[in-house]
Amino acid sequence: MIILSIETSCDDTGISVIKTNSAPSRKKLDDFSSFEVLSDMVSSQAKLHSQYGGVFPALAKREHQNNLVPLLKKALDKSKLLKKNKKEADPKKIQKLQKMLERNQELFNQLKPFLMEYGTPEINRIAVTYGPGLEPCLYTGINLARALSSYWDISLVGVNHLEAHILSNWLSPIEEISFPAIALVVSGGNTQLIMMTDVGKYKLIGETRDDAAGECFDKTARILGLGYPGGPAIAKAAARFKEAKFNITLPRPMIHDKNYEFSFSGLKTAVLYDSKKRSEEERKSSDYIEEMAFNIENAIVDVIISKTMKAAKELKAKSVIMGGGVSANKKLVKELKKSCKKEKLNCISPLAKFSGDNASMIGLTALFSPNAKKMTWQRIKPNSNLKING
Ligand code: KG4
Repeated sequence: MIILSIETSCDDTGISVIKTNSAPSRKKLDDFSSFEVLSDMVSSQAKLHSQYGGVFPALAKREHQNNLVPLLKKALDKSKLLKKNKKEADPKKIQKLQKMLERNQELFNQLKPFLMEYGTPEINRIAVTYGPGLEPCLYTGINLARALSSYWDISLVGVNHLEAHILSNWLSPIEEISFPAIALVVSGGNTQLIMMTDVGKYKLIGETRDDAAGECFDKTARILGLGYPGGPAIAKAAARFKEAKFNITLPRPMIHDKNYEFSFSGLKTAVLYDSKKRSEEERKSSDYIEEMAFNIENAIVDVIISKTMKAAKELKAKSVIMGGGVSANKKLVKELKKSCKKEKLNCISPLAKFSGDNASMIGLTALFSPNAKKMTWQRIKPNSNLKING
């Protein structure tokens, strides 16, 4: 079984090819050892969006349209699945494709010569993220998946991006995980705590009421004049901090509330107020930026750890599973693992290269989750607010 997967939910364009020696018979974690990632291609738009301090959906859609076909070609080539066409392309099929991609003209312009030059690859399934995410971005990936599914006559599977972030941990060898587990999904668009009783069995127990943790990193980085994405920029500046000079204190919103909810917009406002009361010279000094970055990172990490451990203890979890772009934050991973160790809980985080958006996690989820449902190309639609309960 070879699966081609597509990820375009936000600002990373991803295409991956995964091979399993046999289709997994049981939807169990032991099956996760029997696959191989043949290629994993990601094209990040971070540089482009840095001038806006966040993701600009129309621009992200345009970039996905430009990136998808070159990445598809690279991924198939690396997987040794790219073969020159022996037959002439059927003009009727091309015409149908043009109609399907009428709202993604640039994608069609690139896909047409690609399909004319290369034949149907030996893949058995196509997986694509259908939510949650930015609708114009989701549409672009889905439209490519629909076009390929129809043109090559290969079945299609829709994948929940949040579930994929959780299962991204299994893209590398990890210690055994016992259930129930608390899954913490922290990214630019989501901050959620999820009770997981098995692969495919999830219950959302708390999420952010406003900004996501990654969004808070991105917005506060912008206030400090650091680049986008803000998470890595803040972590880098925080690591340079040596000595407190500015008497900065930031709130830990909702940390003592008796629920598993988060709120990060107050933290962003506190950073803005603090920076406004400084002189321009102070505000722009590396001493201030580093001290503030250190405080921001600590405040976000404190809240996330406190809420995650509260959920793990109260709900008697045996493991904690991290996922999403913010789980690349070294301080968060280190501190959460330390807290879990104290409570004798297993704690896993994905490899840094699989913590952010990538298509391999989509392929893996399509292969191993009972939630991955076959969808026909005529019916698949994006769901920008897709939830994880199930
Ligand atoms: O999962 P992801 O790639 O995309 C979404 O689905 O949102 O997450 C991107 C987010 C950004 O907000 C970025 O600032 C944050 O992950 N991020 C980090 C780090 N690396 C990426 N946040 C904190 N520390 C990091 N090292």
